Amino acid sequence: MYRTIFSNVGQYRKQAILTPITIIGEVIMEVTIPLVMAHIIDDGVSRGRIGYVAGLGGLMVVMALFSLAFGALAGRFSAVAGMGFAKNLRSAMFRKVQSFSFANVDKFSTASLTTRLTTDVTNIQNAFMMFIRMAFRSPIMLICATIMAVRTNARLSLVFLAAIPLLGGAVFFIISKAHPRFRKMLTQYDDMNAKVQENLIGIRVVKAFAREDYEKKRFKDNTDSVRRAQFMAEKLVILTMPIMQLVMYGSIVAIMWFGGNMAVDGDIKTGELSSFIMYVSQILISLMMLSMLFIMFVISRASMQRVAEVLEEEPSIKDNETAETMPQDGSISFRNVSFSYYNDMANLALDHIDLDIRSGETIGIIGGTGSSKSTLVQLIPRLYEATEGTVTVGGHDVKEYSLDTLRSQVAMVLQKNVLFSGTIRDNLRWGNEKATDEEIIAACKSACAHDFVVSFPDGYDTDLGQGGVNVSGGQKQRLCIARALLKKPRIIILDDSTSAVDTATDSSIRAAFRRDLADTTTIIIAQRITSVMDADRIIVMDNGKITDIGTHDELMQKSSIYREVYDSQQKGADE
Ligand SMILES: Nc1ncnc2c1ncn2[C@@H]1O[C@H](COP(=O)(O)OP(=O)(O)OP(=O)(O)O)[C@@H](O)[C@H]1O
Ligand SMILES: [Mg+2]
Repeated sequence: MYRTIFSNVGQYRKQAILTPITIIGEVIMEVTIPLVMAHIIDDGVSRGRIGYVAGLGGLMVVMALFSLAFGALAGRFSAVAGMGFAKNLRSAMFRKVQSFSFANVDKFSTASLTTRLTTDVTNIQNAFMMFIRMAFRSPIMLICATIMAVRTNARLSLVFLAAIPLLGGAVFFIISKAHPRFRKMLTQYDDMNAKVQENLIGIRVVKAFAREDYEKKRFKDNTDSVRRAQFMAEKLVILTMPIMQLVMYGSIVAIMWFGGNMAVDGDIKTGELSSFIMYVSQILISLMMLSMLFIMFVISRASMQRVAEVLEEEPSIKDNETAETMPQDGSISFRNVSFSYYNDMANLALDHIDLDIRSGETIGIIGGTGSSKSTLVQLIPRLYEATEGTVTVGGHDVKEYSLDTLRSQVAMVLQKNVLFSGTIRDNLRWGNEKATDEEIIAACKSACAHDFVVSFPDGYDTDLGQGGVNVSGGQKQRLCIARALLKKPRIIILDDSTSAVDTATDSSIRAAFRRDLADTTTIIIAQRITSVMDADRIIVMDNGKITDIGTHDELMQKSSIYREVYDSQQKGADE
């Protein structure tokens, strides 16, 4: 896990190493300053040697300035290293997520991925910055200050040695309890983010149903759980500070007491005692810092695990990146294909499918909701992987292609489709960066989108707003079709892509497809029989199986399901 995470420090390694080095400089200055001070008091002030005091005083100022400069540099280096590390970590995660299959994304959930990319990385970044500053500073400081204190007065040093086991015990207790609580807290964060995302994406539905109050209540419950989980975790951490301060001030009081007595008896000089007290506070502060460091580590370990889970996740679909296989044509075949979303042969979404589609054929798919129409076609561009059996495109198993090649040849207009913010032209080019304006217009004409696009005042430069809010449902569907057409694929799949388009436009889109895409294999999933009626063949699906396949006329003869759907829709049309 640590390797996965920390290999992302990358080009910021230099700063990460310079931080402790400058800190060593700072520490050396800090531990020698009390020594100079002891000399000033014992040899200068008490003997009235003003020149000596001024000289050493000057030296102390210079040392303090150096210490300041080293400290500032260390702060800068650690900040640069920390932020750079976070940037690398985020980019690595983002790249990884892009390689995920649908199944991988289903597993993590979008909300959890969002938290991991934001909050978790921030936790790691903070811990890392603290670590590179303190992991060296505190132990070095601890060792140097202890040596100096023991050298100054060994007997008095016994006092603070007693404090160390006390602090160690407290820190151990806190660490052992805190880790699971922090993990729980982050899961609560995931839930809250899921709620926020869902609500904001579906805000129009929420308003349409006037469910704001219900949503507010649900969100309040969510934030409350986060608060509780945070409190449970932080409760422990908050405890550290008072414990440490108690130990620290206790030791100082004890030293004042014993040291004061020794000074009265003449066993220690006043200057020595005051520098001794400075060493003791340095020692205790370092101990405190070390404990904080441990705790910070525990907090961030929960986040590190979560980030590492993403980075170490194997994409469930292995991209055959270097494969140079090209499809021979636009044919598709399914050989004994079964598929389960849960990788469980007892819970099949597709049940032993055999199917052959010729290149250039137009295929309609009809079937009730949940009959696995979308599931069937998602296997063609390998959005999911068949659990059993083989899917072949253009004469080769889909696994033999690189995903890039396969998906540039198989364009799919998803049932739940989205446009992105930006102009219409940007969105269409998203399908094919190199598309010329002529190609864009031709694709829009085939998808019956050109006319409404040019009717907008800004035409193809119309800004779509986030997720394409400024176009109607049917317009959005037509833009999505045009975007897919721009890829000039061999196979195009329309998953319920004209459901929001009126019947007249729907039929002119099909006419345009017949005219412009005669050689392209076309698969049309639809609820309306009229959308698939004139296809070369129509597949009827029910409950994960293909029940019938044939032309409209054949199916009217042999498929009862088809006839029923037809009759019910005809009746609707006649009334
Ligand atoms: N990502 C998923 N994870 C788990 N189960 C899923 C997932 N997507 C779909 N299913 C299940 O698989 C079955 C088939 O769904 P599918 O989306 O293929 O139906 P469909 O025929 O396209 O329906 P519709 O006409 O409503 O679009 C359904 O029972 C559904 O609950
Ligand atoms: Mg569907």
